[in-house]
Amino acid sequence: MNKKSFGLDIGATSIKLCMLDGRKGSFILKAASISPAPVRGMMSESPLDMEEMAQAIAKAVKDAGIDSKLVNIALPENQVYTKVLDMPVISDKELASAIYWEAEQYIPVPLQNITLVWNVLKRPNQPSQGDKMQVLMVGAPTVLVNKYQKVIQLAGFSVNSMETEILATIRSLVSDETFPTSLIVNIGSISTAFAIIRNGTMVFTYSMAVGGAAINRAIATDFGLTPQQAEEYKRVYGVSGKSLGGKIGQATEPILNSILAEIKKSIAFYAQKYKDDASIRQIILSGGTAKLPGIEIFFANNSGIETAIANPWKVLASQQMPKEILSNASDYTIAVGLAMKDYE
Ligand SMILES: Nc1ncnc2c1ncn2[C@@H]1O[C@H](COP(=O)(O)OP(=O)(O)OP(=O)(O)O)[C@@H](O)[C@H]1O
Ligand SMILES: [Mg+2]
Repeated sequence: MNKKSFGLDIGATSIKLCMLDGRKGSFILKAASISPAPVRGMMSESPLDMEEMAQAIAKAVKDAGIDSKLVNIALPENQVYTKVLDMPVISDKELASAIYWEAEQYIPVPLQNITLVWNVLKRPNQPSQGDKMQVLMVGAPTVLVNKYQKVIQLAGFSVNSMETEILATIRSLVSDETFPTSLIVNIGSISTAFAIIRNGTMVFTYSMAVGGAAINRAIATDFGLTPQQAEEYKRVYGVSGKSLGGKIGQATEPILNSILAEIKKSIAFYAQKYKDDASIRQIILSGGTAKLPGIEIFFANNSGIETAIANPWKVLASQQMPKEILSNASDYTIAVGLAMKDYE
């Protein structure tokens, strides 16, 4: 029996799996798959829907040929409170009490309903006066944590670790501290998460409830199409400016513009905070919506920053891979990051 955990990314529309072998720096891909998530999915509180989700997960894992019972999962970014805090340099013990003061300020719901976790992202070795350390604080509604635990248990697995999607994203995309200053944008179906990486560490994160599903709704409304038809049109025409494609693009653009507005705000926040530092060098687009034809050109042209599509498979030692897995690389970012967690 395999002792390592597999990575499981439960999205609103799809379930992504990844199992790695080998070692950090030259992983070997054991399994990777994408399968549709049940319609009501994890958003539902009903036991029947949880059972359906559990069965879908169990089937996906079996079909992928994964033999591990341990799983690393991620909580959806838009349902948790995540903040990178700049704090005075204090000990872990002091932090354990100080963090509750911070949480009181930033988490807008009663803390008794929240599972609070934190970790030090960066602590200066020999701090001088005024130095700060960066702490990542994550507050997850306890009912949400319990629901994920329950579904995994129903599926026949044990949760080895639980984190938030953006942390898994960073693990698979950010190599080390030499990584260029970047803005990572993970655009899924119902949510989009942003993270700014500086010297290999996350210094800012934010999420919004917009994604590919909103594009479908806009296209379906403008052209009187079913959601399935809208999905097909979107995949074919993307943001292109040609004939019918141009009109489809017009329906898509307001959604991309709302994401662009947050990109610009994040960049402005960064520039204001790190005045004397190198600016953001690249935008990396991840998630299923990163496959929208023309999306990287749209963001590059409108932000003035070089934009690329995420490829988490860079963590693998070179190997032959099925074309389908390669061409859907940006879908796997979170699942790969989760699968990498056991190798830290
Ligand atoms: N080729 C494509 N072109 C454009 N959009 C695409 C393409 N393929 C998938 N998508 C979109 O990607 C989205 C799914 O992405 P992803 O799998 O990252 O989301 P999810 O994880 O299920 O959702 P979320 O993270 O929001 O819970 C859907 O909105 C889908 O329409
Ligand atoms: Mg997702």
